[in-house]
Amino acid sequence: MAWHLSVEVDRSSATSLAGQLQDALRHRITDGVLRPGTRLPSTRRLADDLGVSRSVAVEAYEQLAAEGWLTGRHGSGTCVSERAGGTDSTAPPPAVALREPEPAAPVRWDLRTGRADPGNFPRQEWLASYRTVLAAAGREELDYPPVAGHPSLRRALADYLGRVRGVRTEAGSVMVTAGFAQGLSLLCEALPRLGIRTLAVEDPGHRSQRRFIEECGMRVVPVRVDHEGIDVGELAASGARAVLVTPAHQYPTGVVLSSARRQALVRWARESDGLVVEDDYDGEFWFDREVRPAALQELAPEHVVYAGTASKALVPGLRIGWLAVPPPLTAALDRVRSRRDLGTDGLTQCAFAELITSGLLDRHLRRVRARYRRRREAFTRAAAELLPEATLLGVSAGLHGYLQLPPTTDESALTSAALTRSVLVHGGAHHQVTPGPRPPALVIGYAHLPLAGITDALTALRDALAEQHRVVTPGARGTARRGTAPRATGSRAPI
Ligand SMILES: Cc1ncc(COP(=O)(O)O)c(C=O)c1O
Repeated sequence: MAWHLSVEVDRSSATSLAGQLQDALRHRITDGVLRPGTRLPSTRRLADDLGVSRSVAVEAYEQLAAEGWLTGRHGSGTCVSERAGGTDSTAPPPAVALREPEPAAPVRWDLRTGRADPGNFPRQEWLASYRTVLAAAGREELDYPPVAGHPSLRRALADYLGRVRGVRTEAGSVMVTAGFAQGLSLLCEALPRLGIRTLAVEDPGHRSQRRFIEECGMRVVPVRVDHEGIDVGELAASGARAVLVTPAHQYPTGVVLSSARRQALVRWARESDGLVVEDDYDGEFWFDREVRPAALQELAPEHVVYAGTASKALVPGLRIGWLAVPPPLTAALDRVRSRRDLGTDGLTQCAFAELITSGLLDRHLRRVRARYRRRREAFTRAAAELLPEATLLGVSAGLHGYLQLPPTTDESALTSAALTRSVLVHGGAHHQVTPGPRPPALVIGYAHLPLAGITDALTALRDALAEQHRVVTPGARGTARRGTAPRATGSRAPI
C-alpha cells in the first residue's frame, strides 16, 4: 500500500533533514495526531514524496524506533508503536449537551430512558427503499438538498402526520432536521428573533433539553406537571410566551395532557399570542386499545410547532426529525437554518420518504409496536410482582415507565444501591427542576432490554429496596394502587 504522510522539511534550516523529520513525527505522536498502530509509508516512498535521499528517511525511522516511538514489522512496514504515549485522541469528545454521558463503568442493565431497541431497525426495508432511491437518483437528489428538506420527504411527512397524528400542515410548512435535537436548537435561535427569549418547560421534564435551552441563551421557566399534565394556570402566571410540552406522553411521568388542559393550553396560546412546541417523541407507541389522542397541534396549528423524530420509530443514528411550523416561524427558521448548514443528507431523506409512501413504515411500526407492547407488559408484570408498593403512573405507551415509590423511600440511596448491583437507573430527582417535596420515583427505560432482562433488572431493584429496609419485599403485597391507566383526572397532587 502506498501510505501517504504529510510532513514538511525546510532545506534552509540549520537542523538536518533527518532531525526535522524526527521532530515532526515525534510531535505528531505525542500530540495524538499519529495514533498508536498508524501505518507509515516505506522509507523509499517517504523519501520520494519529500524529495530527499532515502538515507534521510531511514535515519529518522531508525532513531524513532530506537526511542520506542515506531515499530517495524516484517511484511507490514513501519507503524507508530502501540506503547507510544501522547494524548489519547481516540477518547470520546466532550458530551454533547443533549446526550447523557456514558456511565463511568459498564453496567449490566442500563435503565436510562430514550433508548429504542436497535435490533428493531428494519434493515431490509431500509435497504430496499435506499436502493430504489439510489437507482433513480438524478441531479436533484445528488445535489445540495433544500435546507428545509427534500420536497419528497416534506410531502410524505405532511400526509403521514395528518393521517396518523391528525397534524394539520402542508409540505411547505415542514422542516426536516437532524432529530429533534437540531429542531430545538434552531428554535432556540429563531424564537429570540420573534421577541421570545423565555421558554417554559415541564417540571419534571427532560433534564438535558433544559440545560441545552439554557446553553443556547434562552431563559428557562419550569412549570409544574400534575396528573393532568402541565399546569396551564402556572404557565400563564410565569409570563413566558413559549412552552415546550410532551402532551401525548409526558416525559418522564407518562401522563397524558387531559382534554381540559389541552383546551386551556390552546386558550393561553391564543390569548397571549404564545407558541407551544409539542415534542411528540414517542407518539408511535401506544399500547392500549383505546384510540390515542391526536396531536395537540390539531387544535391550534397557528400556535403550535409540532416536532417528531425517527429516533424511536427507527433508530437515533439516522438523525432524522421534523418540525411542522406555523407561518410566522417558517421564514425565521429557514433563515437560521441557512446560516447553520446546507441541509440534511438528501439520499437519506429520499429513502425515508420512500419508506413512508410505500407503506413499509406503517408495516414496520405495526410489527415493533407489538414487540414493545410485550416488553411493556413484561415490565408492568415484573413491577407489580417485585415492587408491589410502587405505583406505575401514566398510560401504557412509549418506551419507559415512571414508578412512584412509597414516601419513606430514600430515592438517591436506592439508585446508588442499584448501581452496586450493576443497574443504572435515574430517580425522579434527576428530572426535577425546582427542588421541593415530591414522591420518590424511578424512571425506567425497558424497551431495549430482553424480556428476561426486565425481570432481572427489576429483581435487582427489589433487592436494592429491601436493603434499605424501607419497603416491603415480595410476598408482602402492598395496598398501593397500580395499573397502567392514568390516575383520576383532576388530581392536582404533585408528581
Ligand atoms: C423527550 C424527548 N424528546 C425528543 C427526543 C428525540 O431526540 P432526537 O430526535 O434528537 O433523537 C428524545 C430522545 O430520547 C426524548 O427523550
